Amino acid sequence: MGEKTFYITTPIYYVNDLPHIGHAFTTVLADITARYKRLLGYDVFFLTGTDEHGQKAERAARQRGITPQELADRVVENYYRLWERLGIQYSRFIRTTEPIHRRAVQRFFQRLVERGDIYKGVYEGWYCPGCEAFVPEGSVTDGRHADCGREVERLQEESYFFRLSRYQGPLLEYYRAHPEFIRPESRYNEVVRFVEAGLKDLSVSRRTVRWGIPVPDDPDHVIYVWLDALTNYISALGWADGDPLYERYWPADVHLVGKDILRFHCVYWPAFLMSAGLPLPRQVFGHGWWLRAQSKMSKSLGNIISPEELLEFSSPDMVRYYLAREAPLDADSDFSYEGYQTRVNADLAHDYGNLVHRLTTMLDRFCEGRVPDYSRLDGEMVAVRTDLETWVGRLEAWVDRLAYPDLLREAWVHVQRLNGLIARREPWRLMRDPATRPEARTLLGFLTEALRLITVGVWPVIPFGAGTFLERLHQPVPPDRRHLTWGILSPGTPVALGPELYPRIELPPEIRSEGIPSPVSIPSSTEGLAMIDIQTFMQVDLRVGEIVAAEPIEKSRKLLKLTVDLGTERRQVVAGIAPYYRPEELRGRKVVVVANLEPAVLMGTESQGMILAADVDGRPYLLEVPAEVPNGSRVR
Ligand code: MSP
Repeated sequence: MGEKTFYITTPIYYVNDLPHIGHAFTTVLADITARYKRLLGYDVFFLTGTDEHGQKAERAARQRGITPQELADRVVENYYRLWERLGIQYSRFIRTTEPIHRRAVQRFFQRLVERGDIYKGVYEGWYCPGCEAFVPEGSVTDGRHADCGREVERLQEESYFFRLSRYQGPLLEYYRAHPEFIRPESRYNEVVRFVEAGLKDLSVSRRTVRWGIPVPDDPDHVIYVWLDALTNYISALGWADGDPLYERYWPADVHLVGKDILRFHCVYWPAFLMSAGLPLPRQVFGHGWWLRAQSKMSKSLGNIISPEELLEFSSPDMVRYYLAREAPLDADSDFSYEGYQTRVNADLAHDYGNLVHRLTTMLDRFCEGRVPDYSRLDGEMVAVRTDLETWVGRLEAWVDRLAYPDLLREAWVHVQRLNGLIARREPWRLMRDPATRPEARTLLGFLTEALRLITVGVWPVIPFGAGTFLERLHQPVPPDRRHLTWGILSPGTPVALGPELYPRIELPPEIRSEGIPSPVSIPSSTEGLAMIDIQTFMQVDLRVGEIVAAEPIEKSRKLLKLTVDLGTERRQVVAGIAPYYRPEELRGRKVVVVANLEPAVLMGTESQGMILAADVDGRPYLLEVPAEVPNGSRVR
């Protein structure tokens, strides 16, 4: 394997949280990039994983009454499942609780010690448990961390320090010599200014945290979670064990991260690597955030968009396409369901999906289901072909800048041009007259080859639908570099018909009427809720009810239809608990019901009430009611 290598990584995600579209964004972009590079002939290694240690995970596990390892084992399943559904083809999924990682972190720490860059000292400062970091004096107001609003603690503890201050000069020099190290460019300047302002030594161990990797020879200290986490990029390659993977792929070509963690990747990580005497990654790419109504998605604001929810009424290609098409990398983007629906219906259902459908149907009707000869293109077709080849020639440059909105915008100009050609030339009309029939056949052959070429060029973004179309053309999937040229389809190739690739999507009613609280979208925090008086509270009619029947709702992965006996009447209640409760374990169970909630229609089923559940990071826990309480009893 003499080909060029390409190593791309995503951040490793915390396991105290369920994946949302912010996480999916980074991972989808990395997958698209990895697929493009493979298509272009690179030997690619694509790494993702989970960051399982640290105080946040420790605390989240305690709240649930389980061990941090159990928590990690459970949450990681959500990542595996989501990446599988979204078609993420990683080469390796690293978990920081794996022994291979632990060995690497301890060895890496030891290297820094040998270099004389680690010393023991006492650290005192404001510690923000939410951010798992000591935070600067200036970012604390009224005892709270300005960035996240959480209460900070004054902490003093013995700690190991890393001599980060030593690396100010070398880092600045490195940035100057490698302007492409930090992308996009605006972020480069941000980082340079930060380092120019001066670097203090960094505390790299904790005594207050137990859940982590112990400092070699001093197990009272646990290695700081960021030093632990960053090391994943080499531990996963087996650096500590002399694995040839490390030699082959390190240094990484790009660490793809959100702008929130740019500093860790552009300042701390290269300083650690310099100290350890290892090569530095070639690039850190810090993309913008997905926002919701202009605020960053976060659990405490309860404004998270779950990719699983999008997948309930759309498809993996749609999620991938939308994320890649809509987000400019150097700015934030606002998510809206309507924007999602409009974009995927217009581009995938209407422009691309219809084109596939019309073309294959016409080939079937007029050309015996085979690709006609297209060797004699007329002037207009030659012009389209030339433009398409230019587009193909520019693919790699877009990929290297992760400029997917531009790449796709131009791809769709071509898709629309092909649609325009069909509308204007009306091949079905040309077919009727023997004199114009050859023109029609050439046109259909030309359109098929043109659409094949576009399809190969966007396959990394929409691999499911593009793969299906290529299979209908009897082309290999995955395609490779050779398929990125004109003239691959030989005349006579059979073309299969099939169902629509991208049926139009409708937003489910519970999303269309976003004002109605869905049974699981209860904000998990009380921040921002006003005080109410007892009379207001008493307006809520809470009753004990018994679930007498429970069944899934067709086409919904999330919702169950429950029949609840309220003593004097039976109610039908739709609850978003399907991923967590099986219908058979619900029958006979007593629950608390909001009995005077206005009815709402969810996925076509009326819901006449709401069941109360505690919300733990989006996971509902139904409240327990003692069996002897009669149905219909008031709760207050
Ligand atoms: N565990 C650390 C990373 C360690 S890497 C050595 C961490 N984890 S995280 O679960 O909080 O994930 C952060 C990453 O998720 C961001 O850098 C970004 O890639 C992605 N996103 C999380 N929320 C996001 C948005 N709202 N928008 C876009 N991406 C975001 O930090």
